[in-house]
Amino acid sequence: MVRTRLPALALFLAGAFACRPATPASAVDPGEGPAVPARVAPQFPDGWRFQAGEEAVFAPNAMVSSNSALASEAGLEVLRQGGNAVDAAVATGFALAVTYPAAGNIGGGGFMVIRLANGEVAAIDYREIAPLASTRDMYLDASRKKTNKSLVGHLASGVPGAVAGMAEAQRRFGRLTLAQVMAPAIRLASEGFIVDSALWRGLRSDSAVITRFAGKDVFFPNGPTVAPGSRLVQADLARTLRAIAAEGARAFYEGRTADLFVAEMQRGGGIITKEDLARYTPIWREPLQTTYRGYSLIGMPPASSGGTTMIEALNILETFESLPPFHSTRYKHLLAESFRRAFVDRNTKLCDPAFCDVPVARLTSKVYARELRQTIALDQASRSPQGVETPAGLHTTHYSVVDADGNAVATTTTLNGGYGSGVLVAGAGFFLNNEMDDLAVAPGQPNMFGLIEGEQNAVEPGKRPLSSMSPTIVLDPSGNVLLVVGAAGGPTIISGTMQVILNVVEHRMSLADAMRAPRMHHQAWPDSIRYEAAGFPPAVADSLRRMGHGLYDTRSLTNVNAIMRVRGGWHGVSEPRGVGAAIGF
Ligand code: DON
Repeated sequence: MVRTRLPALALFLAGAFACRPATPASAVDPGEGPAVPARVAPQFPDGWRFQAGEEAVFAPNAMVSSNSALASEAGLEVLRQGGNAVDAAVATGFALAVTYPAAGNIGGGGFMVIRLANGEVAAIDYREIAPLASTRDMYLDASRKKTNKSLVGHLASGVPGAVAGMAEAQRRFGRLTLAQVMAPAIRLASEGFIVDSALWRGLRSDSAVITRFAGKDVFFPNGPTVAPGSRLVQADLARTLRAIAAEGARAFYEGRTADLFVAEMQRGGGIITKEDLARYTPIWREPLQTTYRGYSLIGMPPASSGGTTMIEALNILETFESLPPFHSTRYKHLLAESFRRAFVDRNTKLCDPAFCDVPVARLTSKVYARELRQTIALDQASRSPQGVETPAGLHTTHYSVVDADGNAVATTTTLNGGYGSGVLVAGAGFFLNNEMDDLAVAPGQPNMFGLIEGEQNAVEPGKRPLSSMSPTIVLDPSGNVLLVVGAAGGPTIISGTMQVILNVVEHRMSLADAMRAPRMHHQAWPDSIRYEAAGFPPAVADSLRRMGHGLYDTRSLTNVNAIMRVRGGWHGVSEPRGVGAAIGF
């Protein structure tokens, strides 16, 4: 395991902060249902791309927020039929595999966090696993340099978990049959849907990789990308989905679909076998539960790093009596320093718990947070031990669901890169992930997100690659669901999800503002704050530089889909920086 030590830094000086006044107790909404604290309107910096004060979608009963309006409608259709939030989440997940093929998937994997109205919580890990024939150095060339085989082509895929995970969640908690829940997705695949400009743009920008494989016939049937306004029918995918609806997950991991899957592997030099598929099993895990200033958080444990890393960073922030204002240099500095410390631990200590001892209890403890706080200087950036460049990240998708009974589901699923490895299983109609790149294919060298991980995450058969996916449910101090949230965006999933939570809980923003507020990110390496262009007032950026922070701007960070409880119902917001819709009734 790679060991790192942060340099010793000046001690914490609590008095140096100008604190935001605590929200007065009178600012509690007296409306129906659980109390919801009043919201405080933020001011966004000049030149920031979004306005404050926009409206969220309101629904009194139930809501689905996802990156595809058609997939959100699929979830809603199932809710209206009497399905619960888990049925609706699974309906949305299968529909995303049809309407949002860059990230929605049956050829990838994900994580789902569930909180039932009766207080029961659950988390299911359906992350992909490394094939049995995988080897530590399979992605290195003769000079031990990384090739791109963990990113593109047949070797890049882990054994998919999406179908097994969604079917198992639905079996355990759903009210309807799997066939009922999958009906909207099957309809969207077999009858088709109208291609919009977002899908067209996404396919066109990844056309080089998609057209190398069988996706060419589905998405580029006459040469150019299927045109906006045309109807896209995915007959092979519809057949695969129908088989799963009729026979359950088995129909993906055995029989015709498995035959097509393995034939595809053999055609392209891949190594996933029938045995790999037959052995795949999703895992129910104890969700991580913690508190933050009286709110409760329910998050995903390893093999995702999401919950652990977010809790570690939040715990550090909680050691400060209160946090500085949103646009202050001090707030950005504290966020950066908390993320830095949490990501150092993430990258050096976390991995699939079947393969290493993961010190989750220690990393998420309040005592440890207090120790880390002692290493933060208020007026000076600390240094991470190494630095590298970070390439941009691509595609994952998060969806949030609540039903009329108050059940809540947060799900994040991914193919890793946009359209995963680019390989579409011929005859079965779905893209395969390139999740093997989330393993440390060359420990100590950065992956596609610039994350440098150690030996604990090296390639080993059966191992789940460490993930950043962070499906999270936040309860208010009375124990009612307040927020259902999560994101896409590689490591920025953790920081972006956490900032939406902080915007709601600390800065008292409405969900619409919390989602539109400028975001920033720090992942220890590269040793710089990444921030959304025009998201920092110039004076704040200058001050952060003077404190020793590296800074670079980017157009957009993180793709979040969230739902928040408000007076008399729910607010839903799909990512203002992306596509999608929150829809409710
Ligand atoms: O599991 C993970 O952390 C990554 N495979 C997520 C990739 C991702 O979010 C890509 N971007 N939108």
